[in-house]
Amino acid sequence: MIIKTATFMTSSTRWQDCPEPTMPEYAFIGRSNVGKSSLINAMLNFKDLAKTSQTPGKTQLINHFMINENWYLTDLPGYGYARVSKSLRKEFEKLITNYILNRKNLVNLFVLIDARHSPQKIDLEFIGWCGENGVPFSLAFTKSDKLKPNVLKENVEKYKAVLLETWESLPEIYVTSAEKKVGGEEILKFISVTNQFLKENHINFEL
Ligand code: GTP
Ligand code: MG
Repeated sequence: MIIKTATFMTSSTRWQDCPEPTMPEYAFIGRSNVGKSSLINAMLNFKDLAKTSQTPGKTQLINHFMINENWYLTDLPGYGYARVSKSLRKEFEKLITNYILNRKNLVNLFVLIDARHSPQKIDLEFIGWCGENGVPFSLAFTKSDKLKPNVLKENVEKYKAVLLETWESLPEIYVTSAEKKVGGEEILKFISVTNQFLKENHINFEL
């Protein structure tokens, strides 16, 4: 997909305040600091569209971007940020889950997973929650540049094996690096094919 335009629209604290749900929407989600905002920038080939930081907890709002004037990309706050109070963490979780369950035009979530680690409970729980709630999602491993190819492969295979303990089939899986600009094109291809499918089947979100 060629990115002709990518514009920041709004930051919202509640799903009710998000832009009118008139276009297909795709959202990036995952633990704090996993690389959501960085991957959005790398994928769209924009330097600072989504704000990134070395400190976890940078993105605290639901950020909407409009791409090519015909679909939305959403940068969500990270889950599981340890250095905030439990009540604030719960509030973030509520913000995220309410957004996911109520956003009518949300077509697919990209759940980002740090490729360096073995499967983490919090991510597996979130993936399980998506399954229980019928939320379509794909997985995107991030920061792949930080690993040697054989270790990366091993980690991805390990993840698949763990998923297959509870799932009958695997979701779409992308291996990415914002640093080396890897994997973004594949994600955009999926979005482009999905948008085309929605169009051909007259599935639109006009009010
Ligand atoms: P929150 O908004 O806090 O939830 O974080 P986030 O998931 O948006 O992460 P962000 O994109 O801000 O990146 C966090 C840190 O990881 C930054 O220091 C990035 O430079 C670094 N980072 C992100 N992606 C990559 C990558 O592909 N490779 C490497 N080496 N570093 C990365
Ligand atoms: Mg962020």
